[in-house]
Amino acid sequence: MVKDFSSFQPVDPFALQENVFDLLDKEWMLITAGNEQQFNTMTASWGSLGFLWRKPISIIFVRPQRHTYQFTEEYDTYTLSFFGHGNFRKELSFCGSKSGRDYDKVKETGLVPIATPNNSMAFEQARLILECRKLYADDIKPNAFVDTLLDKEIYPTKDHHRFYIGEIVGCYQKKI
Ligand SMILES: Cc1cc2nc3c(=O)[nH]c(=O)nc-3n(C[C@H](O)[C@H](O)[C@H](O)COP(=O)(O)O)c2cc1C
Repeated sequence: MVKDFSSFQPVDPFALQENVFDLLDKEWMLITAGNEQQFNTMTASWGSLGFLWRKPISIIFVRPQRHTYQFTEEYDTYTLSFFGHGNFRKELSFCGSKSGRDYDKVKETGLVPIATPNNSMAFEQARLILECRKLYADDIKPNAFVDTLLDKEIYPTKDHHRFYIGEIVGCYQKKI
């Protein structure tokens, strides 16, 4: 069941008071792409939030074998949902270890999908949702590593991430 978006309020991304390192490494996020009819979500902790091409942006990294990859490829937007420190750990661990190919993640976790005003999908239980419009996508290239040991360490099976740079076009916080 997709609920309405009234429990969220739009905020200026420049007004956010977040520690990006903590947000990604400790809080984790759900990357979600698709629409109400079909979408997929997965847990991620590698990425970036920043400022590029005069825009607030996110960068996400998706390995090609992820089911989510088909959705980040097909759709023009993706969302990042943040749930707060230590919250929904069980659900995020599930979405970070099981594939949407094999499981209905919504049914298994109880996370409630919600459509943003632009019809991107995110989750009702999130405290913060960033909606991003894809600007640029490319694959991490083995021969571009300056630190070649890193390539061996992170990509022993050559499943190099595809990265997406997305403009943050919507930023929503849960109403208190
Ligand atoms: C904490 C955590 C962080 C993760 N970060 C990423 C990431 O940044 N990129 C990625 O491709 N996979 C990442 N994963 C793995 C995917 O979430 C996992 O493979 C997931 O089952 C993919 O689901 P899907 O096949 O439905 O897309 C992470 C997993 C966890 C638990």
